[in-house]
Amino acid sequence: MKSAAEQTADTTPRYLSGFGNHFATEALPGALPEGRNSPQRCAYGLYAEQFSGTAFTAPRHANRRSWLYRIRPAASHGEFRKLRAGRLETRFDEVDPSPNRLRWSAPPLPRAPTDFIDGLATVGGNGSPDANTGCAIHWYVANRSMRGRFFYDADGELLIVPQSGRLRIATELGLLEVAPLEIAVIPRGLRFRVELPDAGARGYICENFGAPFRLPDLGPIGSNGLANPRDFLTPVAGYEDRKGRFELVAKFAGALWAAPIDHSPLDVVAWHGNNAPYKYELTRFNTMGSVSFDHPDPSIFLVLQSVSDTAGVDNVDFVIFPPRWLSMRDTFRPPWFHRNVASEFMGLIEGVYDAKAEGFEPGGASLHNCMSGHGPDAATFEKAILADTSKPAYVGKTMAFMFETRALIRPTRHALKSPLLQADYDAAWRGLKSHFTPSAPVARGRGRAK
Ligand SMILES: [Fe+2]
Repeated sequence: MKSAAEQTADTTPRYLSGFGNHFATEALPGALPEGRNSPQRCAYGLYAEQFSGTAFTAPRHANRRSWLYRIRPAASHGEFRKLRAGRLETRFDEVDPSPNRLRWSAPPLPRAPTDFIDGLATVGGNGSPDANTGCAIHWYVANRSMRGRFFYDADGELLIVPQSGRLRIATELGLLEVAPLEIAVIPRGLRFRVELPDAGARGYICENFGAPFRLPDLGPIGSNGLANPRDFLTPVAGYEDRKGRFELVAKFAGALWAAPIDHSPLDVVAWHGNNAPYKYELTRFNTMGSVSFDHPDPSIFLVLQSVSDTAGVDNVDFVIFPPRWLSMRDTFRPPWFHRNVASEFMGLIEGVYDAKAEGFEPGGASLHNCMSGHGPDAATFEKAILADTSKPAYVGKTMAFMFETRALIRPTRHALKSPLLQADYDAAWRGLKSHFTPSAPVARGRGRAK
């Protein structure tokens, strides 16, 4: 029999399009029951099983659930036993958070055999899965496919941001393949296996304990723009019918647990519903910006949001800074200096971020917590105040992103003790000297564009 990796390695993923659609897909004809969810006997001898992503009574526009028709129900496995604690963390009270701005270099690929689960390390987070609020932020590094084991996360939904190397994510509901500049979102509790088509993989994960990610409302922007719904892709049904001595790993209440399972849990032959994994290509984001003067708030870069119980205040936002034209005249064009009530974890997928000339490398990260002053470094500032703003400028190859939360992002002990933590990040702003000249009211530089 072929290994699990071999079975999916030669399979081309196929997708259905549209964000949050009520999909219906079957790998065998007639596997989906017509006009009902739970017939007395299902076609092909399958079991019917509901997989919910929200409370049963959630409003219709927010309600998520799917019906799965599978070879064995999800209940078929042995007893879970706790695994040795790794570098995953969901309690964020290990160390006192500080108002310091923090930046990390990119984690290297591992030398020892490391799969997607082994290679997870928590940078920080807030809230708790028990309270259904907050998020955890992880790095992943891996150099081999998951073999003989499957994973699910009972604590939260997983927003996976590859930075290097592709991932083939074989899920209960079908096969997704994502590369850098794409993201994948795996619903809370969905079982999956991660395979590596390339030699290694590295990226970021936002583990969302709160409401599932959704597309933001567009307000005056209108009915198009930002991330368009049809660019979100969900896999068609695909199944494995395999017996063996496998392990089902669960992330539950912050810890990892493993149970024996004698078959592949990726045995869903057909499914319908809207609680499903999806992927999105970030270069399809329809970026908005100023065509007159000044910067709009970075909320115009919002891709996905997890809303909270307070209108307009999200549990966590996923924001990107893609290639774009800057055409505002007589304007300081890099991101402005600011302090926010929200807390910001940033990562870089490729290129250079336009507020930092150096030090913020692809695969690295920065953390600017609530009310920590930040903005461009001195070199970027000096260049920007002398730039010619009479012509548009293109911010080319770049893709930075942000996980932005309403609550403090508390770093883990591991993240603060990591050799990847850069010393003296404050130096980025040390060169910002006073230009204040009481005797010279006219701003230096090129002056106002007419
Ligand atoms: Fe910021």
